[in-house]
Amino acid sequence: MTDTALNLLVNELRQPAERRLWIVDENIPPQLLAPQTGTQVVGNRFDLIRAMREQGWNAELSDFDLGKLPDASIEQIIYRVSKEKAVVHHLINEAARLLGPNGKLILIGDKGEGIKTYARKAQQRLGGAKAEQKQGSVWRCELSVAQPADAPLDDQNYAQMRELDLKDAGQYLSKPGLFGWNKIDRGSAFLVENLAEMLDRPLPVEGSILDLGCGFGYLALNACAISAELTCTDNNAAALIACRANLEARGYTHAQVVASDAGDTLQQRFDTILCNPPFHAGFGVEGDLTDRFLQQTQRLLTPNGTACFVVNLHIPLERKAQGLFAQIHCHADNGHFKLIQLSKPKG
Ligand SMILES: C[S@@+](CC[C@H](N)C(=O)[O-])C[C@H]1O[C@@H](n2cnc3c(N)ncnc32)[C@H](O)[C@@H]1O
Repeated sequence: MTDTALNLLVNELRQPAERRLWIVDENIPPQLLAPQTGTQVVGNRFDLIRAMREQGWNAELSDFDLGKLPDASIEQIIYRVSKEKAVVHHLINEAARLLGPNGKLILIGDKGEGIKTYARKAQQRLGGAKAEQKQGSVWRCELSVAQPADAPLDDQNYAQMRELDLKDAGQYLSKPGLFGWNKIDRGSAFLVENLAEMLDRPLPVEGSILDLGCGFGYLALNACAISAELTCTDNNAAALIACRANLEARGYTHAQVVASDAGDTLQQRFDTILCNPPFHAGFGVEGDLTDRFLQQTQRLLTPNGTACFVVNLHIPLERKAQGLFAQIHCHADNGHFKLIQLSKPKG
């Protein structure tokens, strides 16, 4: 399924074009093809955009913020649909604004990803013709612009930061486009509940602290003192924006928010590292994502520091951490998640 969609994409991108925009998400591998003239790339994943820039692509990291591009300035948009509906609707709405009179939107995706529905909605939005080709369950849909509908698709006000009132779990600023944007991750809540015991210190924690894969900042906001030397990092552009907004709103004026792939751009070491790592990498190039989070944690933890991870019970974190840390301890599990303490980084 994946290969068919990628082959269709490559064929598309190899056609000569001017003023073409390729929108990339985690479902695109970094080395898919060499840079193509006339094509600019926008995507929300730091690792992917960095890899593409290194290859010579004109690629920009943003939370799919296309506001800088003038109306009717693009001839063709190519987009393999994302997983999240709000993102896809936002980008179809933007296509209606960005494409000139002979413009084309090319959507590629699997039936299971909702491509048929997205193509139908995109046709309504752009007002022109729709041509579809199928290869197995993967569809390539070409949509032209005629009389764009006035009513945009419901993108849940994609760009807007909003306040989430999660009752006992607190209030946070968040937005679509980042993992689990409107809820608290149950694993992260379990980690916060047990963190004081794990660290053998009361919350909020002082000192140098890293929130690795920070999302909108839930772990940092619940665990770290305002005066802590706090760094939050994530790979996703929406997460970085939301985390910055939360830290600013709560007065964490010393904190920094940094884009990275599992912390790889950071140089400083930390006494405390908090992490609820992601499960799957999309297209990771350096092997397993959990391994990369662990390797970076070993590099970034001070000799007497402690890293506190929460993972699903089935993830063999303890085994993967062997060779990287001299002390590995499972502090607790609740039948779904386990809390792992890592200390004494080796090497
Ligand atoms: C399970 S969520 C945890 C989010 C947040 N810490 C929380 O507790 O709610 C995992 C986070 O890792 C981020 N992530 C995924 N791949 C990453 C990578 N390669 N480097 C850094 N962060 C990544 C995701 O964007 C997401 O915010």
